[in-house]
Parts: sequence; structure tokens; C-alpha cells
Amino acid sequence: MREKLEAKGLKPRRRVLLSGPPGTGKTLSASALAGELQYPLFSVMLHGLITKFMGETAQKLKMIFDAVKTTRGIYLFDEIDALAAARGGENDVGEARRVLNSFLQFLDEDTGPSIVIATTNLPGILDRAVLRRFDLVLPYVMPDGPAIRQALERRLIGFSLARMGWKRVIDVATGLSTADVVAAAEDAARRAVLNDTDKIATQDLLDALERRRSLQELGTDDNGTRPSALPPSQSRTTSPVPSKGRGRVQKTK
Ligand SMILES: Nc1ncnc2c1ncn2[C@@H]1O[C@H](COP(=O)(O)OP(=O)(O)O)[C@@H](O)[C@H]1O
Ligand SMILES: [Mg+2]
Repeated sequence: MREKLEAKGLKPRRRVLLSGPPGTGKTLSASALAGELQYPLFSVMLHGLITKFMGETAQKLKMIFDAVKTTRGIYLFDEIDALAAARGGENDVGEARRVLNSFLQFLDEDTGPSIVIATTNLPGILDRAVLRRFDLVLPYVMPDGPAIRQALERRLIGFSLARMGWKRVIDVATGLSTADVVAAAEDAARRAVLNDTDKIATQDLLDALERRRSLQELGTDDNGTRPSALPPSQSRTTSPVPSKGRGRVQKTK
């Protein structure tokens, strides 16, 4: 396939941006792709890359892109938001902006054999300068009714879902991310197992989903403000999981 493209002076797409709310499967997709292609997956923690000293940060980025060039793999720059958000901001964000700019520059220069995947939870802040560096931008969305049902059925394979009140379940689950829906399924499944049954009770699943919703409502959004409620159809841009940045390349496969 590569040869076919190259015969016409084209290159395979190697720079992919996954964009969408937290918990919609972006990170999961990167590792699934690595599994499919049998490439090693390297996750780069961007938050931890930023140091007070520009020289150090640039040096770290350079080391990573040296690896991109020499070691074929999937390089995941997860949640580039920290950098992108800073772009064009006025406050003490010069460093993040410089890191983003060097990141983009390294992307431009990269012609190696690796695949670079970046993810963002905040599509609104992506500007053209960022977007044009990617060969492919894939939007991720919050699950609709059928997607919710599918995620639940997949996670609950091996359990009995006979007489599940799907309509009520989907009503309560709407507005939650796939990650939350899957977590609720696991809660309900644990309860079934401990009760020595393989039948998932509608009420257990509803309770578990409600618990996820109240957890969501406790969270803060990216501006640090608390959402007052979770409107059913509105996608949220909050990650309840703090990212642990270490600024090094981590082999995860
Ligand atoms: N589209 C999906 N299909 C199945 N499971 C999903 C999906 N999206 C998220 N999940 C579940 O939620 C977990 C977290 O998703 P993740 O990839 O970390 O989301 P993101 O990176 O978009 O925040 C996954 O490991 C998986 O269990
Ligand atoms: Mg993620």
C-alpha cells in the first residue's frame, strides 16, 4: 500500500489528532491501533515536559523526536490541551506556548517511520496552525442511545440482560461519557457477582449510572468552575482524573 502511494508521490498519513470530550475512547484508540499494527506505544506526558527552563524543555522534546525518527512506534502526545490552551493567552504561559511551538515545529520536520497521535479534550482551542500539522483529525463524541446500549452490552458479555429496561437505562446514561457508562456497567456487574447471580438488575444498573452522574457533578470543568448540573445532551470537557506528568517517554506496550 505504501508503495502504491509513493509511486504517486504521496505518503501514508502518520500524524493523527483525536479530538473530543474526556472518556470517549481517544487514549484507548491509540493503544488499540498500536495493538493492531503491532507497534510499540510510547506515551509522552506533555504536562511534565514543561520546566521553568526553556532550554531543558526544548532538549526533552528533541530527545523525544529523535526517538520518533529512529525507533518506529506509535508516539502518543496525550492531552495537548495544556499547551494549546496557553497559546495566545496573556498570563504566565510563555513557556507552554514555546513548548507547543517547538512541538509543532518538530512535527513539521518529522519524516520518520513512526505514527504520531495527539489527543485533545478541548477542540475549541485548536487553531489552524495546529490543525494543519495533522494529516487526519478524528472527532470523538459522547455516546448516543444505541452507542450507550452497545457499550453496556459489550462490557456485560457473560451476564444476562434479559428484561433490561433499556429505555430508562439510556435516559439516565445520556450525557455520560462511554468511560462512565462502562464503569457503571462494571459496578452493576460486581454487585451481581457478589449476589451469586449472572443477571444484571435494571435497578442496579440505574443506581450505578446515577452514582457516576453525581460524581460528574462533583467535578470541576477546565476553568476550575463547578458545573451546576449535567444537562443530558451536553458534552462535558472535564476530566476527573488528574494527569500525572513526568515528561518522559514511557513504553506502555
Ligand atoms: N468508544 C468507546 N468504546 C468502548 N469503551 C470505551 C469507549 N470510550 C471509552 N471507553 C472506556 O473508557 C475507558 C477510558 O477511555 P479513554 O480512552 O481513556 O478516553 P479518553 O482518552 O477519550 O478520555 C476506556 O479504557 C474504555 O474502557
Ligand atoms: Mg485520554
